[in-house]
Amino acid sequence: MRCAFISDVHSNFEALAAVVKEIDRLGIKKIFSAGDIIGYGPDPGSCIDLFRRRGIVSVLGNHDAFVAEGMDRLNYNYIAFTALGLNCFMLSADDKAYISGLKRSESIDDLLLVHARPPDDLKNYVWSVHDIFDLVPGMDKRVYIIGHTHSPVMFKVERSAAGYVGMSQSYSRSNLVFESGNTKITRYVSGEVKLEPGCRYVFNPGSVGQPRDGDPRASFGVLADDSFEIRRVKYNIGRTVKVMEDKGYPEFLHSRLFKGR
Ligand SMILES: [Fe+2]
Repeated sequence: MRCAFISDVHSNFEALAAVVKEIDRLGIKKIFSAGDIIGYGPDPGSCIDLFRRRGIVSVLGNHDAFVAEGMDRLNYNYIAFTALGLNCFMLSADDKAYISGLKRSESIDDLLLVHARPPDDLKNYVWSVHDIFDLVPGMDKRVYIIGHTHSPVMFKVERSAAGYVGMSQSYSRSNLVFESGNTKITRYVSGEVKLEPGCRYVFNPGSVGQPRDGDPRASFGVLADDSFEIRRVKYNIGRTVKVMEDKGYPEFLHSRLFKGR
C-alpha cells in the first residue's frame, strides 16, 4: 500500500492544499506528517483544519512544541520566534489542544516517524551521511521518516559482515557514498530509492511550506512497498505571500518562499 509523507507545513495552506490535491490525484489514501504544522506561515488554523478533515497523522515538531510543551523561546531565532508569536495569536483553543495532543514519535509497523532525529528528538538536524552513521547502532526499524531540515534527502544503510573497503567517500552525480567498517551509507537528494532486503533507510520528504533546498515547489514523499520517491508540486506562492503581507509578517519570511531558501 502506498502512503504519502509530508513535513514542515509551517502554516502555508496554499502549499498544503496543493500537495494534498496531488496526493489525492495519485490515489493515495493515507498521509503522515513529520511535524512543524505551525510557525513561519500565515494560516495555522486552516492547516490544522485540513489535517483533521483528511485524518493526517502527525508527530510534534519543534515549532509545534512552542505551543504544546512551552519550549523555551531561546530555542528559536528571532524570525522564527516572531512568526510563532503571530501564529499563537491566530490559534483557537481547539487548535492548541490538537497541537498539544501530538506525540514526539509514531511507530507504524517497521517504520518510525519523528521530527528531527530518531528516536524522539525535535531539535538536532540530520543532514549528512556522518549523522546517519551515528544513528546506525540504534536503528531497529527498517524505515525512519524525519523532517526539520526543510531539504529532501534519502539515505540507504547497508551492512556487510565482510566489511567495506574502509573509510572512503565517492560522489556520483548528486549522490554520495560513505563506507566505514561494515557500514555503507548512500545519500540521494532526488528521484526514487528502491527498498532492498536487509537494508535500512532514513527518508526526509522535504518541506511543504518553506523548502530550503533552492527549489520553491512544495515537497513530499511517497512510500510504496518497494520504493520511496521525492515529489515536488507547484503552488501559488504569490497568494501565500499576499496573506503574509496583509497580516504584517516580516519581509524576510515571505521573500524566501520565492527562492526556496
Ligand atoms: Fe521546520
